[in-house]
Amino acid sequence: MHRAKIVIVGAGAVGGAAALFTAAAVPSANIVLVDMEPVRAQAQALDLAHASAFWGHGGVKAGDFDDAREADIVVVAAGLGVKPGQTRLDLAHANAAILCDIVDRIDAQAPQAIYVIATNPCDPLAAVAHHRLACARERVISTGTSLDTARLRALLAERLGVVAPAIEAYVLGEHGESAVIHWSGASVAGMPLELFLKRAGKELGSASRALVLRSVVEAAKQIKEGKGATQYGIAIAVARICQAIVHDSNLILSVGLVLSEVEGVPEVCVSLPMVLNATGANLLAYPQLDDSERSALQHSACIVKKATEDILARH
Ligand SMILES: NC(=O)c1ccc[n+]([C@@H]2O[C@H](COP(=O)([O-])OP(=O)(O)OC[C@H]3O[C@@H](n4cnc5c(N)ncnc54)[C@H](O)[C@@H]3O)[C@@H](O)[C@H]2O)c1
Repeated sequence: MHRAKIVIVGAGAVGGAAALFTAAAVPSANIVLVDMEPVRAQAQALDLAHASAFWGHGGVKAGDFDDAREADIVVVAAGLGVKPGQTRLDLAHANAAILCDIVDRIDAQAPQAIYVIATNPCDPLAAVAHHRLACARERVISTGTSLDTARLRALLAERLGVVAPAIEAYVLGEHGESAVIHWSGASVAGMPLELFLKRAGKELGSASRALVLRSVVEAAKQIKEGKGATQYGIAIAVARICQAIVHDSNLILSVGLVLSEVEGVPEVCVSLPMVLNATGANLLAYPQLDDSERSALQHSACIVKKATEDILARH
C-alpha cells in the first residue's frame, strides 16, 4: 500500500505543531520536516518522536530538500511572521523569495505534489506558487480563511451557547484585513442563523456582528501579544487539509485556490468553501451572497489580486 509522504518546510512554531497534528490525523503518513536551520528540524522531530511513542506510531523525520522526492503533499510554513504594527501583506516580498526558492527546489523532486501554503500572506503566495509551478489549480491550496472560519465558529459558539460543530458559517475572501463573514449563509442546528436567533430569543445585531468580524481578524494579534506566535489553530487546519487529501474524503473547508474569476476579479486566490480530496481543492458550488457580501468579497479579491501582481512583478 502507498504510504503518503508529507513534507513540511519550515520547522518553527507552525511547522512543528502542524507535524504533530498531521501525525495524529494521518498516522500512516511519512512526515518529513525540512528547515533552513537543520538543527531546528532535528529538534522538532526528536521531540515529536517522544510524543509519538505514547501512541505507538511514529513517522516524523527531519530531512532536507532531497527527502522531498515523490512527496504527495508539501506544506509551506517557512518564513517571517507578522510583527506588531505590520499586516500580513507587509511580509509579501520577503516571504515570496523564500517560497519561490522552496518551490523551485521541490518541483523537480515531487512533480505531482499538492502544495498547502500557510506562510503569510498565504493567498497571494499560493497564487505565486501556482504561477511558478504552472500546474492544475487544484494542486496549490492556501490555508486561507480555514483558520478565520474556526475563529468565527469558536466565537459564535460562545456567544450562542452551542457547540462549534452545530454552527455552519464561513469566513470568505482574504486571510487578512479584508476577510468577509458570510452571514447570509450561516446556519445553526440546521436553521438559518436569523431563525435560530429568533427562536432561541437571542440577538446578534449589526454592532455585534462588526465586533465579531474585528475579533476574527485581530485574533492573531491578541494571541501573539500573549505567546509570541499563533500555531495550534493553523496547525489543525493544515492537518485536516492533509488528512482530507490522503483519505480522499471530500471534506469541505474554506481554503484558497486560484479561481478563474471571483466577483469580476480574474485569476485570484481567495477562500470560498471548497471540497478537499485526493485531487486537491475544488470549488463545487459558488456560495449565494447578498449584495453587501458580494461587494466585500470583490474588495477582498481586489486586494489579493493587487498584492499578487506586486509580488509577480518582482519575483
Ligand atoms: N496562514 C495562517 O493562518 C498562518 C497562521 C500562523 C502563522 N502563519 C505564518 O506561518 C509562517 C511561519 O510562522 P512561524 O510562527 O512558524 O515562524 P517561525 O519563525 O517559528 O518558523 C519559521 C521557520 O521557517 C524557517 N525558514 C525560513 N526560511 C526558510 C527556507 N528558505 N527554507 C526552509 N526553512 C526556512 C526558519 O528557519 C524557521 O524555523 C509565517 O509566515 C506566519 O505568518 C500563517
